[in-house]
Amino acid sequence: MTNSKKLLIVAGARPNFMKIAPILRELKLHQDVFDWRLVHTGQHYDKDMSTVFFEELGIPAPDFYLDAGGGTHAQQTGRIMERFEVVCQKWQPDLVIVVGDVNSTLAASIVAKKAGSKVAHVEAGLRSGDMSMPEEINRIVTDAITDYFFVTEPSGIDNLIREGHEPSQLFFVGHVMIDNLYHQLSILESRPGHQFSTSPLKRELETGYGVLTLHRPSNVDDPVALSNLIAVINQVSVHLPLLFVVHPRTASIIERHEIGLASGVHLLRPLPYMEFLNLWKDARLVLTDSGGLQEETTALGVPCITLRENTERPITVTDGSNVLVGSDSSKILRAVELQLQSGKQRESRKPELWDGAAASRIVEVLRRVL
Ligand code: UD1
Repeated sequence: MTNSKKLLIVAGARPNFMKIAPILRELKLHQDVFDWRLVHTGQHYDKDMSTVFFEELGIPAPDFYLDAGGGTHAQQTGRIMERFEVVCQKWQPDLVIVVGDVNSTLAASIVAKKAGSKVAHVEAGLRSGDMSMPEEINRIVTDAITDYFFVTEPSGIDNLIREGHEPSQLFFVGHVMIDNLYHQLSILESRPGHQFSTSPLKRELETGYGVLTLHRPSNVDDPVALSNLIAVINQVSVHLPLLFVVHPRTASIIERHEIGLASGVHLLRPLPYMEFLNLWKDARLVLTDSGGLQEETTALGVPCITLRENTERPITVTDGSNVLVGSDSSKILRAVELQLQSGKQRESRKPELWDGAAASRIVEVLRRVL
């Protein structure tokens, strides 16, 4: 291993885990060139939000666990930075790979760069244009100090060029999260009849259901905004039963403010990947404010109604199955109504290079540039 390149791969929150799984699988095929270690910042720490994904997605136990979850953004980011710096001093990486746009992505990239390491950002260049989103700040700051940009859709390349980055640093490789989706889907399809904890509920709902997720601060942190949104959700559930897979932060706000849910809205704890996939792939529609789910639904052509005013993933709207409706009740109801009328569904095609081979392209590039 004396001439091999030393890498650190950093993950911290639920949406990171799906993205590192295919990269790690690919790196294992190139042990001759890369000596790598995995860092889990602990941003997400609940079993439901973290451990189950490691088990299910075949991610090895982290070599370094920073236990830096909870607190305000500054507290969390600061804690990750302090503890990750110690890891960088110990391991002296040539390259740090960060994924996505969570606080762990931002914190690790700043520390890596100052420690003299190169930074690779997977899912670089996405921009919502909405600086009130913590993730937009994380994306912009991370990309400002990234050396190798791995991009999922053409808008990412355009954004990075506009921001003055060298075209030779930009690599349009497709999407590792979609690699993971196909990998997990093939495992799911290889075990028909598998019983999940939601199976009994699903049988009850054989006539059709929607899946709902909500966790963006702009939708859930203000109890009045959340109550208004839930009032519309309750109306939707009169026409279509909704399975509401609820993030811990949203669950605690609903409980604290005693926000009432209609009987057609079924609350479910955060689900393991496979179980969640098994639900949404057959849903008549998905209502969400998640970034990743907009893309996964596009990859499988499942109709998605996004409860946000903007998206950093515009290809899901131009090419995919996604519509943006924000929090306007009439727009939400109209979009649901159109979706439920046969023949009114929008056409959807799979974006370029979302073919399950993004991780192998990334590792190929890293072999070349390092
Ligand atoms: C984070 C990401 C967001 C991503 C989301 C997916 C940032 C800025 N945000 O948001 O981009 O879409 O993850 O889930 O990084 N909590 C638990 N258990 C956990 C984790 C969190 O109860 O395992 C609760 C805690 O009250 C915690 C709060 O959720 O303080 C917020 O967690 P945090 O990691 O700060 O942000 P998310 O809302 O999860």
